Amino acid sequence: MNVIDPVGLVYKAIGADEPFFRLVEHFYAGVEKDPILRPLYPEDLAPGREHLALFLIQRTGGRQTYSEQRGHPRMRQKHTPFKIGQKERDAWIMNMYAALNAVPEFEPHLETMKDFFDSFATFMINQPG
Ligand code: HEM
Repeated sequence: MNVIDPVGLVYKAIGADEPFFRLVEHFYAGVEKDPILRPLYPEDLAPGREHLALFLIQRTGGRQTYSEQRGHPRMRQKHTPFKIGQKERDAWIMNMYAALNAVPEFEPHLETMKDFFDSFATFMINQPG
């Protein structure tokens, strides 16, 4: 929650949950139409959408509801059921960048959030190719 972790300051600067839910809505609208990502996601996208919003609220310094409901993040472990290679990672990032660009509240935090998603998404890769 300091200069070492600029991501942890974003929630306070934005000051509300709603832009995070709007971000995730945009992201999932992209997932729904994405031929690489859609097959990885379950038929019902609603629970994952809620979990992603709560995770991002928590990770950026907001309420800790994600961990109360879903336990310790352990994100890499939670992604092991999905085959994530470079192609899937890049598709995820493309959709998330588009979502960030669609929500003006994130404009002052674009560099911080894009850096965060870039390295986090690379960390989720669990398959060669
Ligand atoms: C690299 C490409 C990625 C792919 C292909 C991917 C795919 C998925 C899929 C298929 C789910 C399950 C959704 C559901 O059960 O409805 C999921 C869950 C989730 N993903 Fe990702 N993901 C990726 C990267 C990321 C990144 C970078 C983050 C965070 C910055 C993230 C955060 C989450 C969260 C919070 C959940 C919900 C976990 C839970 O069940 O509590 N994912 N992801």
